[in-house]
Amino acid sequence: SQPPRPLYTADQAGDIDRRTIAAGTDGFALMQRAAAGAWQHLRTRWPEARALSLLCGGGNNGGDGYVIAALAAQAGLAVQCLALKPVEALAGDAARAAAMARAAGVPVEEWQEGSSLCGEVVVDAMLGTGLGGEVRGAYRRAIEAVNQAGKPVLAVDVPSGLAADSGALLGGAVRADATVTFIADKIGLYTGQAPDHVGEVAFCPLGVNARAQSDIVPRGVLLDERQLTEAFTPRRRTAHKGDMGHVLVLGGAPGMGGAALIASQAAARLGAGKVSLATAPEHVAASLIRCPEVMAHGVRGGADLAGLVEQSDVLVVGPGIGQGAFGQAMLAAALESDRPLVVDADALNLLAERFAGERRENWVLTPHPGEAGRLLGMNAAEVEADRPATAEALGRRYGGYSVLKGAGTLTAGPGGLGVCPYGNPGMASGGMGDALAGMLGALCGQRGMDDDSIRLGVLVHALAADMAARRHGERGLLASDLASCARRLINPGSD
Ligand code: APR
Repeated sequence: SQPPRPLYTADQAGDIDRRTIAAGTDGFALMQRAAAGAWQHLRTRWPEARALSLLCGGGNNGGDGYVIAALAAQAGLAVQCLALKPVEALAGDAARAAAMARAAGVPVEEWQEGSSLCGEVVVDAMLGTGLGGEVRGAYRRAIEAVNQAGKPVLAVDVPSGLAADSGALLGGAVRADATVTFIADKIGLYTGQAPDHVGEVAFCPLGVNARAQSDIVPRGVLLDERQLTEAFTPRRRTAHKGDMGHVLVLGGAPGMGGAALIASQAAARLGAGKVSLATAPEHVAASLIRCPEVMAHGVRGGADLAGLVEQSDVLVVGPGIGQGAFGQAMLAAALESDRPLVVDADALNLLAERFAGERRENWVLTPHPGEAGRLLGMNAAEVEADRPATAEALGRRYGGYSVLKGAGTLTAGPGGLGVCPYGNPGMASGGMGDALAGMLGALCGQRGMDDDSIRLGVLVHALAADMAARRHGERGLLASDLASCARRLINPGSD
């Protein structure tokens, strides 16, 4: 089986690059390999294109662009090459690359506001991993010009303006249709704003084995759907429900019943041996009708919970719980127990405000960016500025595991960061988080709470949403539509 793909930061990619050069590979040769990789991708993706426009920055990302320009000219394409920094001011390999482009007959002009992009495909080689801080000057306007040109765009290494470490926008970024990234796959291509900017991502290692740089610990790993086949092997023929975990969902304050129903049903569909629901008495009948397999109990406060908590293996606390007396009593009971906890929704807000200072190893917190901000005393913009760092900070502050939701969901735990490249905008609808909490509860109940269970829960949730969206589209996707798809995913080979 293939290990999950490692993801790196911009600095780490730079380190790996420098070490490869120090170990004897010529830097310009690496640049040529990168350009050849990007050129090959371009030819495969846009085989009909006869004219290219390239925008080249002043660093080595621009250097890659000049070599692509040379390759395109040698292949007989019409090449428009626009320099963001005068060629005379370039240094090192970038200068060599620009000379190579000129020698291949490419006319290099300086980019100016109003320069029209006449190619059929635009190559963005302005800013790569060397981007520092908000995009400045002409680069900013050139990024806008590329986005307004309405042409297909190939980004070299990283779309200009996207932070390779976090997927945050540094003022604005090129929206590419494809990104070819080199040497080390960057974490920022998979989370934050990346899904709106990278297009299809292709990774060219350039013959460099980043993993061979053994003291460089990857920033994270890319979660992969192939992990499902490995994880969900057939059950023992003699299995019984007592082996499969008993999930107790605590949620549904008066007037807020739906979320807890969604969570408990999702737990049942993810293979939990038993699912109990402790909810306000008025929601019990609805639960019985909706999903009779869930054992629904009407509770008014903590005193009604004692027996239920004892019988369960894992608790899901939060869906529809509210921040009032009901929610406080449910969360207090959950925190008193030694059971593994999945903590979601208003239980997270209560944790941030009324139960501050709690810390444990056997829990997973599942905030969206707003809740993560409250848990860490940051605003949502600060969270978005560095999602991987936020996911890690949650772990440092609260212990255990965390799931930072939103495009490019991140998981954090003792095993490091995982980034989920699946999911779709149909998931921007109420109840999706409740379904995830229920799924995590079921998987932790069956497999124990560890990095793998958390990553599997996030994978199944996102892939189920993708499967459901393929069938009927993204708009109108409901959290309860995920259950049947998720069931197929955890039974590899089923139809
Ligand atoms: N605004 C405007 N210009 C900037 C900014 C900014 N915020 N930050 C950096 N620059 C400019 C620098 O002045 C320099 O000219 O960008 C250039 C450096 O960017 P890169 O080319 O991304 O950095 P560099 O380290 O030279 O090359 C890394 O080379 O291996 C290739 O494509 C690969 O991304 C990788 C790149």
